[in-house]
Amino acid sequence: MAKQTILTGVTTTGTPHLGNYAGAIRPCVAASRREDTHNFYFLADYHALVKNQDPESVHRSSLEVAATWLAAGLDTETAIFYRQSDIPEIPELMWVLNAVTAKGLMNRAHAYKAAVAVNESGSRDPDKGVTMALFSYPVLMAADILLFSANRVPVGQDQKQHVEMAQDMAQRFNHNFAELFVIPEAQIDENTAVLSGLDGRKMSKSYNNTIPLFVPEKKLRKLIMKIKTNSLEPGEPKETKGSTLFEIYQAFATESEVEAMRGRFAEGIGWGHLKQELFEYLNDHLASAREEYERLIAAPDHIENTLKNGAERAREIAVPFMAKIRDAVGIRSLAP
Ligand code: TRP
Repeated sequence: MAKQTILTGVTTTGTPHLGNYAGAIRPCVAASRREDTHNFYFLADYHALVKNQDPESVHRSSLEVAATWLAAGLDTETAIFYRQSDIPEIPELMWVLNAVTAKGLMNRAHAYKAAVAVNESGSRDPDKGVTMALFSYPVLMAADILLFSANRVPVGQDQKQHVEMAQDMAQRFNHNFAELFVIPEAQIDENTAVLSGLDGRKMSKSYNNTIPLFVPEKKLRKLIMKIKTNSLEPGEPKETKGSTLFEIYQAFATESEVEAMRGRFAEGIGWGHLKQELFEYLNDHLASAREEYERLIAAPDHIENTLKNGAERAREIAVPFMAKIRDAVGIRSLAP
């Protein structure tokens, strides 16, 4: 079988947190070392503009996301690691895809529908605050995916609909013009951890309840001490289910360590004690990568060069493919 192509993007808003690490970064880093697949990972910085129009924070987030992936051990020899905005063929393809995308399909996109629903519940104009970027976000995402002929797109459950929309666009294009696009599949791994945040809801930058992956030691301790628990006293048996502390520990510890921890929950380990232990465990686990992260951030030339190199490799594919796409829709030289 021909090598499968795996591709995923990370929107550059905010600072990567423990949930991003366990859910996306760690599995992708592991996959980046595999030689039996082509792996594409990129910073979706144009996507960031949908939610964030503060230039400094978009810029800072790109730096932090890139440094995080590199410090976490991404193999940039095997995998192609680049920045969306370094590939002008992506927005070019987006325009072509716009021409095969029904507006009605975009009306059904969750993020757009949610924004409209919020407006309607407050009896405001349904389109209040809805930009064209929010509305057409799935078309940009489809361009990311289709330009590199991805077979599999590892994403969270919330992004599945976008990959299905990309399938729809690919099929229409293939039917109307030429069979150029591979039909992508979302890859949703049920086993990867989804972590809860400080307040017990899903850890997410939109809830402001995250523990950044590479916060300095003191801050890490402070945040772990803030994690919500119930009011059971030391000595009272505790459930592992629903415990954010347990969940986070489980995402990092080995199976036998997790088993031992289950026993200690049953015996009634005290929350304060557990927090201190979790802090020490995570801190040991993350210390050397954190040092690397700080080194990378302090001297960002290395990151910039790595991304530029990734973009060059990506464009070796994107430029000729985009030429074929343009040709297929009738945009070609007029000279015989
Ligand atoms: N929309 C994705 C998210 O917010 C990020 C993303 C952009 C992406 N382009 C992509 C993911 C292409 C997979 C493939 O998580």
